[in-house]
Amino acid sequence: MPDSISKKRVLVIHYSQTGQLDRVAQSVAAPLLDDEAVLVDFLPVRPVEAYPFPWPFLQFINTFPESAHQVPCPLDVQAEHLQPGYDLVILAYQVWYLAPSIPISSFLQSDTAARLLADTPVVTVIACRNMWLQAQEKVKAHLQRCGARLVGNIALVDAAGSIASFFATPLWVLTGRKGPHWFGLVPSAGVSQEDVDGAQRFGETLRQRLLGSMPLEGDVLDGLDAAPVNDKLILSEKIGTRSFYLWGKLFLACGGPDSMIRTPLAALYTVFLLLMIVTVVPITAVLKWLFSPLLKKRIARQKAYYAGSAESAGD
Ligand SMILES: Cc1cc2nc3c(=O)[nH]c(=O)nc-3n(C[C@H](O)[C@H](O)[C@H](O)COP(=O)(O)O)c2cc1C
Repeated sequence: MPDSISKKRVLVIHYSQTGQLDRVAQSVAAPLLDDEAVLVDFLPVRPVEAYPFPWPFLQFINTFPESAHQVPCPLDVQAEHLQPGYDLVILAYQVWYLAPSIPISSFLQSDTAARLLADTPVVTVIACRNMWLQAQEKVKAHLQRCGARLVGNIALVDAAGSIASFFATPLWVLTGRKGPHWFGLVPSAGVSQEDVDGAQRFGETLRQRLLGSMPLEGDVLDGLDAAPVNDKLILSEKIGTRSFYLWGKLFLACGGPDSMIRTPLAALYTVFLLLMIVTVVPITAVLKWLFSPLLKKRIARQKAYYAGSAESAGD
């Protein structure tokens, strides 16, 4: 087959600290890589100064303002050789503080992103603890600004479930060990191997759509349960995003992450966070439970919106 004339071109943009998200992206890309009619390029996004893994505790907390406000960091991205006009871009990102990770939000604000994503269909791939709804809203805005078309979303979340992963995921990023911890009291963190391997099925659908006659439009993964929405997290994510935004403003007003005052402020914020968790979280859970019969329709509307099947959340 004469190379570039008839082959479909796919670009996979990815950033991962532990490699988990890279494995998910590889799994999605596998059917495309196996097909001679498809050319796949990979573009790793690298911050000039790597973020640590495992994270020192206060640095982990002190990163939320830049993440929530999407303050870009300098990147080392080798993309000069990549020609725009891809038939599909797969954008694999992890979530940091209810926003795309800083390397990915920095990339999305770069000229390279504008060049590579303009007028191009994009499928986003997320692997995170379980709170990705607000991050995806931010990514949607970036894609729209770049003139890209979001045509699908794959979201894999940690296997341990909401309560256990609340402990398991921070323990993982702060110790570098996936667990289980404390004699099995805290289960292993991360997405299950079954989910990572299973992500190939989305790649197979993408392959078929790319090589078929129908244009990549709408939600190309519709019906595959690629990004199940947990409606119990919608309100918590909204409250969390607001809180990160407001506190983040205060942190940013004190200077960059290295400014002297930011470390004690991060310690203070940790105390605030813990107080919020033991007070506001149970109170909102009870309020949600009490008012859920009244809010049923509204929650269903919001769920449909985040799942991609409605234009507006109707807030
Ligand atoms: C600084 C930081 C903040 C995070 N914030 C969130 C979050 O808001 N929501 C979420 O679901 N996961 C969050 N996570 C978990 C990551 O999305 C991801 O699951 C984990 O870092 C492993 O990613 P990797 O294996 O691709 O490196 C956070 C992780 C880090 C390091």
